[in-house]
Amino acid sequence: MADETRQAPEVHKGLEGVVADVTSISQVVPETCSLTYRGHPVPELAESCEFDEVAWLLWHGDLPGRADLEAFRQAEVAARPLSPILARLIRSLPRQAHPMDVVRAAVSVLGMGHPDAPRNDSESLDHQGLQLLAQVPTVIAAFHRLRQGQRPIAPRPDLGRSANFFWMVFGEVPDPTIVRAFDVSLILYAEHGFNASTFTARVVTSTMADLHGAVTAAIAALKGPLHGGANEAVMRTLAEIGEVANVRPWLDRALAERRRIMGFGHRVYGSGDSRVPTMRRWGLQVAKARRDRRWYDIADALEAEMAARKHLHPNLDFPSGPAYHLMGFPWDLFTPIFVMSRLAGWIAHVREQAAANRLIRHLAAYVGPEPRPVPALDMRRPLSDDTTRWAPP
Ligand code: COA
Repeated sequence: MADETRQAPEVHKGLEGVVADVTSISQVVPETCSLTYRGHPVPELAESCEFDEVAWLLWHGDLPGRADLEAFRQAEVAARPLSPILARLIRSLPRQAHPMDVVRAAVSVLGMGHPDAPRNDSESLDHQGLQLLAQVPTVIAAFHRLRQGQRPIAPRPDLGRSANFFWMVFGEVPDPTIVRAFDVSLILYAEHGFNASTFTARVVTSTMADLHGAVTAAIAALKGPLHGGANEAVMRTLAEIGEVANVRPWLDRALAERRRIMGFGHRVYGSGDSRVPTMRRWGLQVAKARRDRRWYDIADALEAEMAARKHLHPNLDFPSGPAYHLMGFPWDLFTPIFVMSRLAGWIAHVREQAAANRLIRHLAAYVGPEPRPVPALDMRRPLSDDTTRWAPP
């Protein structure tokens, strides 16, 4: 018999509204649609800083001075090349693998080779974090070239982080506006409170597991289309729509089918994502440089329809999807690019969690069967009549 006297606990489905811990890394204020990293408004950081400075800010609490920044950059440049083991591993992976799965596997392998792996003190995290920040772009570029039957291109020490990524993927560095737009996108994606992947990293860290385990788990969480995978899905949506005239009939059908419109809505922001205007402005610069406004025209029309019909506003993935497409990246690299950036935030949170740790452990309200005896084998109901269900595919 159920204990009728026991009060049903309040369930916060999706943990909505639950404050799980304190953080001093970033602040999202939904009422004013604002986002700050360590107190600095993100649009201001995006206009006046480079990604490396923002990564340092997230890890150390303040923007770096000239000497610190120079040392950080030099260390990042030195750490870019892959070890022979990792290079061999990437060559051996299936060419049709999703690059997110490749990055996840590569981070696992990087953890195996790291002498500091089990240590979560600040100095070890500096060292391991920098290696991840430096090598993940090399992994993404190398895998992409290999799957196209091309040779990987070695990183160039004379290039900044974003320009070097273009170099390793395409063998050329585009117009500086495009490189800058890419760097801005990395700054905007770097950190966003206790989002699903960051919270995943904090849960893993709270068990006192290592950084690479936390980042591997975070990458798995980011891949889903309700989280980071949305930027790739946005481009599929825009391509499916095809032209501005199709926006209304496409949306009529999609809403009638109760489809989720990728790149719209947000758990925290009710009336618009603070990062969207900056990304859209830089995306339009890329469109101008590429002489192709088509994707932003479709996007603008879809945005207006969604606001009018569903009162839903775009999130960062909406303007970044077409920007990455116009930069020349294949759609399945969009979420790995998000990883290149969000690593900075994940590592900052791992540091914060490790410095004031308590195991993260929620409760669940049980709704399963009442206690019952174990029946004999012959008395059990078959799950289905289909006896082939366990046959290997
Ligand atoms: N398209 C259509 N309907 C949407 C929607 C979208 N993008 N986002 C939310 N809704 C609707 C839901 O269908 C639901 O309607 P219902 O109550 O009639 O069923 C309602 O809004 C609430 O949705 P819910 O999933 O509970 O809200 P959430 O806070 O959990 O959702 C997201 C947040 C981001 C998961 C959600 O907005 C979404 O799926 N967006 C698309 C994916 C995306 O862009 N992800 C990137 C996030 S940065």
